[in-house]
Amino acid sequence: MTAPARRRWRAAGLGAVAVCAGLGAYGAARESGGPVLEVGCGTGRVLVPTARAGLEVTGLDLSPNMLAKCRERLAVEPPEVRRRATLVQGDMRAFDLGRTFAMVTIPFRPFQHLVTVEDQMACLACVRAHLADGGRFIMDLFNPSLPRLVDEKYLKEGGGASMEMPDGRRVVRRERLARRDLFGQVNYCELIYYVTHPDGREERLVHAFPMRYLFRYEVEHLLARCGFNLEAVYADYDKSPYGSKDPGELICVARKAPSDRR
Ligand SMILES: C[S@@+](CC[C@H](N)C(=O)[O-])C[C@H]1O[C@@H](n2cnc3c(N)ncnc32)[C@H](O)[C@@H]1O
Repeated sequence: MTAPARRRWRAAGLGAVAVCAGLGAYGAARESGGPVLEVGCGTGRVLVPTARAGLEVTGLDLSPNMLAKCRERLAVEPPEVRRRATLVQGDMRAFDLGRTFAMVTIPFRPFQHLVTVEDQMACLACVRAHLADGGRFIMDLFNPSLPRLVDEKYLKEGGGASMEMPDGRRVVRRERLARRDLFGQVNYCELIYYVTHPDGREERLVHAFPMRYLFRYEVEHLLARCGFNLEAVYADYDKSPYGSKDPGELICVARKAPSDRR
C-alpha cells in the first residue's frame, strides 16, 4: 500500500470510530460507556481504537485469520485496553452471544459480502436481537455511483500499490471487477497480488469476493422491515449529510424499534 493510500485507509478506520464515538457522545453507548459489538471486525483496525477510547467492545468475524491478526494487534496494547476487547469467531448471519449491546456497528462494508436478501435479513435479525432497548446500530456501506457501475475501465486491472514485506517479499496489489451482475447488484471483485520472493520466484495470488451494493432507499426499507427506526444517513465519517458528496459513503444510523411497532 502506498503512503497516501495507507493514510486514507487509517482515516476511514478512525472516521468510523469517530462516527461511533461521536454519536455515542449523546446516545446510549456513551452514556452507558458501551458495550459495543462490531460485526466484521477484521484485523481490528476500528476495534482496537474503540477499546483504546475506553469502550468495552466485542468483535465478531467469520475469518480465523483476520481474528488472529486482530489478536496480534491487541497483544501489544496496555492491559486495560486488552481487557476491554473480546473476539468471537462467528457468522454475521447466525450468531448468538447471549447478551445485548448499547451499540452495534458494521464498519467499512462487511454487510456487502451478503449477496441475498435472505442473508441480509438474517444478519439484521441477529443485530437486532443483540441490541439493548433503545440501542443504536451503525451500518457503513459504499454509496453506488451510477457512472462507475457501468464504466468498462473497472473490468481491467488497475491500482498497483506496492509494498515490501518484513520477510523480504515485494508485493504489488492490483484490483479489478471480474464480472458485474447489474440486475443482482453484485460486483465480483478481485484483489490480485503479484509477489516477488527474495529468491526471484514470482506468484500471482487472487482474493476474489462478491460485493453487493445497495441503494439508499433500499437500505431504508430493509432496515424498517427488520425492525429498525432510521435516525440519520451520512455521506461521510464526518457526518456530512447524505448526498453532499459524490458518491460519498452510505452510512446509516438506526435505533432498534420497539417490538410492538413492527
Ligand atoms: C472489509 S473487512 C472490514 C473489517 C473492519 N470492519 C475494518 O473496517 O477494518 C470485512 C470483514 O468482514 C468479514 N466477514 C465477511 N463475511 C462475514 C460473515 N458472514 N460473518 C462475519 N464476518 C464476515 C471478513 O472476514 C472481513 O474480516
